[in-house]
Amino acid sequence: MPALTTTPDGFLLHGEPFRILSGALHYFRVHPDQWADRLRKARLMGLNTVETYIPWNLHEPEPGTLVLDGLLDLPRFLRLAAAEGLHVLLRPGPFICAEWDGGGLPHWLTTDPGIRLRTSDPRFTEVVDRYLDLLLPPLLPYLAASGGPVIAVQVENEYGAYGDDIAYLEHLERSLRSRGVGELLFTCDQTDGDHLKNGVLPGVLATGTFGSRVDRSLARLREAQPEGPLMCGEFWIGWFDHWGGPHHGRDAADAAADLDRLLAAGASVNIYMFHGGTNFGRTNGANHHHTYVPTVTSYDYDAPLTESGDPGPKYHAFREVIARHAPVPDEPVPAPSPKLPPATVRLTHRAPLLPLADRPVHAPDPRSADDLGLRAGYTLYRTTAPAAGTGLLHFTGGVGDRAQVFLDGAPAGVLERERREETLPVRVPRAGAVVEVLVENMGRVNYGPRIGAAKGLLGPVTLDGAPLRGWDSYALPLDDVPATARFAPAATPACAEPAFHRGTFEVTTPADTFLSLPGWTKGEAWVNGFHLGRYWNRGPQRTLYVPGPALRPGTNDLVLLELHGTITPEAHLTDAPDLGPAAS
Ligand code: GLA
Repeated sequence: MPALTTTPDGFLLHGEPFRILSGALHYFRVHPDQWADRLRKARLMGLNTVETYIPWNLHEPEPGTLVLDGLLDLPRFLRLAAAEGLHVLLRPGPFICAEWDGGGLPHWLTTDPGIRLRTSDPRFTEVVDRYLDLLLPPLLPYLAASGGPVIAVQVENEYGAYGDDIAYLEHLERSLRSRGVGELLFTCDQTDGDHLKNGVLPGVLATGTFGSRVDRSLARLREAQPEGPLMCGEFWIGWFDHWGGPHHGRDAADAAADLDRLLAAGASVNIYMFHGGTNFGRTNGANHHHTYVPTVTSYDYDAPLTESGDPGPKYHAFREVIARHAPVPDEPVPAPSPKLPPATVRLTHRAPLLPLADRPVHAPDPRSADDLGLRAGYTLYRTTAPAAGTGLLHFTGGVGDRAQVFLDGAPAGVLERERREETLPVRVPRAGAVVEVLVENMGRVNYGPRIGAAKGLLGPVTLDGAPLRGWDSYALPLDDVPATARFAPAATPACAEPAFHRGTFEVTTPADTFLSLPGWTKGEAWVNGFHLGRYWNRGPQRTLYVPGPALRPGTNDLVLLELHGTITPEAHLTDAPDLGPAAS
């Protein structure tokens, strides 16, 4: 008998009436040294439960290898939650959406071109089962049946928005059960259209995902499931941002009023997000509805706890609402954490990027990033042009996702998947000129039918209609600053080629700070080897969150990979985030 059970209109936990007051907190979006702090703040807001997805793509980076340490030490996160007296809802996917690279589906799945993701295709279910064989044994001690904090486990994620292969959902249910998951299972689906029909399973609790129109959404859920607890599986209290789009915010009073409606209706809730955190490194996903749009680095989400873990207006408003319906700890609301004093960092050393490419695959046409076995990062392509003159460089099939073209090392233009750009007018300086194309994977689509779409150059290239052949394709994973990068003192303040830039700064007492890069264009940043994520002057995000635990007393190291150019050798550390002007 699972610890959490259902009655015709509610939950029982160990036989006692229970309402789930949960908040989403993705351990993989928060520095592990800050997990305990965020969990404590969840309890102090009045939550009794936290919810997290489990990102398959990070936990099984290569087939058969399970990673469960550092940022991915989920058992430790579960122990910390238990120590705080919090229950946990686990959402192991295999698909998690979450504005996360590929919705958590590993890039290596699509090396089998025929595979039908998120279906009962045995090519898919077999690798899912193999993953669960690795993942679940270390988690079983943390299930409530073994005295652990996990009281419920989700099957798939909003499956009704994607497919209607019930045999697949049944397979997942059996896979969890047969591997020892005896706790309550649930699904979550949007409450529109057929979602609640296609995504649900008999005998598995259905929950709804919505952020407003509470009464109508609960009524739809009740229609789809005449008996059982009403639960909002994701109560959207904010939203995420895309590069080039507005910065989303939601009025705290408006979100709090909807939370009050939900709780007054007797429903359980999972606030999405309680604390959003950061898409560190290259973990952001992308949407592709009408066009491809990648998600920014910050996952602040306008959540109750800001990206840097400080209580924002929603924290106070939600705590007040929760107190009307349930006991809230009689302890003071935590104060914002200290921030580093503002400072300027001089990037004194440089190493150009393109010379770092080595070990090419030679083929008549460029090879995609997927063909090169690349999870994330960049691909570089090199060939020579047959003759001098102006012409049209055409990329059949487009680029995945952003290509910078160079002729004899000089920038010739940029093509973006976002703008459906496939053709670039160029002037080839001489016969035999070197054509180079640097392509950035800006994040895999995490929602809808384009999950798993390929990256890099996606087909043959022509110059003025004639095939351009004989390409060297290079994988540039650049997970860290390559040891082969030859840093030399910067000779000029400005720099107009893709390059690594390095500098140091002094810290007395480590604390959170925000990296601001006016004058820089587009790239990525690392502090002491910790990969902060991507920056881009397109915005809306203008600062990158630097978690205090990534810093150390004394000398700290800042590295930028700047893809275009900078007019200044300086970066700034500020004491407040700038996520862009809020959408009106
Ligand atoms: C859905 C998904 C989540 C997330 C939100 C939007 O509800 O289930 O993973 O993508 O949308 O933030």
